[in-house]
Amino acid sequence: MRETNFLKEQNAKPIWHPMAHPAEMRSAPPKIIASASGVHVTDVDGHRVLDAVGGLWNVNLGYGNDVVKKAIRDQLDILPYYSGFRGTSTGPAIELAYELTRFFEPEGMTRVFYTSGGSDSVESALRLARQYWKIRGQKDRFKFLSLKKGYHGTHFGGASINGNANFRRNYEPLLPGCFHMPVPWLYRNAFNETDPARLVDLCASAIEDEINFQGADTIAAFVMEPVLGAGGVIVPPENFMPRVRALCDKYDILLIADEVVTAFGRTGSWSGSRLWQVKPDMMCIAKAITSGYFPLGATLISEKIAAVFEENTDSFGAIGHGYTYSGHPVGCAAGIAALSETLRLKLDENAQQRGVELAAVLAWLKSSHASIGDVRSKGLMAAIELVSDQASKTPASKKTMAAVAEGAYQAGVMVRVSSNQIILSPPLVITSGDVQKMADGLDAGLRGAV
Ligand SMILES: Cc1ncc(COP(=O)(O)O)c(C=O)c1O
Repeated sequence: MRETNFLKEQNAKPIWHPMAHPAEMRSAPPKIIASASGVHVTDVDGHRVLDAVGGLWNVNLGYGNDVVKKAIRDQLDILPYYSGFRGTSTGPAIELAYELTRFFEPEGMTRVFYTSGGSDSVESALRLARQYWKIRGQKDRFKFLSLKKGYHGTHFGGASINGNANFRRNYEPLLPGCFHMPVPWLYRNAFNETDPARLVDLCASAIEDEINFQGADTIAAFVMEPVLGAGGVIVPPENFMPRVRALCDKYDILLIADEVVTAFGRTGSWSGSRLWQVKPDMMCIAKAITSGYFPLGATLISEKIAAVFEENTDSFGAIGHGYTYSGHPVGCAAGIAALSETLRLKLDENAQQRGVELAAVLAWLKSSHASIGDVRSKGLMAAIELVSDQASKTPASKKTMAAVAEGAYQAGVMVRVSSNQIILSPPLVITSGDVQKMADGLDAGLRGAV
């Protein structure tokens, strides 16, 4: 690779970065991350920080897992690529699918459709949901319901069910037939309701009302994250997802759990659906499936859906969808290794235990800083919401948010800003000491930004 000066000179010039304004990036270029070890990353200037972002919610095993690295190296030597399209398959793809169906047996997942990442997994689930109803002869069922504040990636399907205007407005018109339901978010909701049980009732009534308004027999699926991630770590009360499942059962609507963030232990449970004791009809996974070491994703399919496709004898059952990199052998080899390491290290337990510690330090930060309006967390996913005024809950300015993140970075902790929230999603291998370092870094960032 070329020397540091070249990289700095060219930084953000020939690249347009995802989720960023190209002009802004040219005037304030991003940090260039040069290397990583354990739970730390180091930039090109040699500044080393604890990565409280975990890459992008995905590097659950941290950066130094030699088992995953070796699996990738070995697979590159054996077979760097072969297609999984009709007629061919590979060993790693078969083995990982077998392991995934065992791992997600409690959720009732029995088939795997590979993708290259989270947006692909959502897109595949939406398409398979429509196809499922076509096979069953209910061709009017094409609509999707999802939650406001939900994030489902950036393909046209995922963006259409996305519940955040930032990811929609510039790309409209989006897919017709997508409707957004209220989410039980205690800090901010349109009902002005602060009681969790009443809020769940209100949201569930609104969903049922919309189902009846649209006509249940026009709705293909309800899509939700068990814990909303990018929308600001909104943790619904524990009976919300079971209520959605019950409504889906009542009206024969498929339930798709978008577990791109929550699968593989992040919430302290092996999946978000398992956390709330719900069996969805499909699950979308990606990110931690390889701990971020190789791009891979999958849409997981329950027996109910599998049976309809596999018993079909006409052309409606044929899957006219897939990616060149569906089931990439190197990605699947990484996935097999990442899953076995995830299990060996009991990352669900560590996320749960460190998550309790993280919740305690977040409460301490909230009590020490008037700029914090709310803190929310489940396991090792957390958000700190900053406001300029507690009573009116006015979101903190972009400038304040940038100052907090930069202050934390200078104090040794990388955090991520999303609107007026600091989002934390560290590797699941962090220690109690790391949790304290995160707290100290955030404290420094918050103090500096006052
Ligand atoms: C819940 C959820 N779904 C889908 C996606 C999209 O995944 P990707 O960025 O890998 O396409 C994300 C990404 O953060 C996500 O959080």
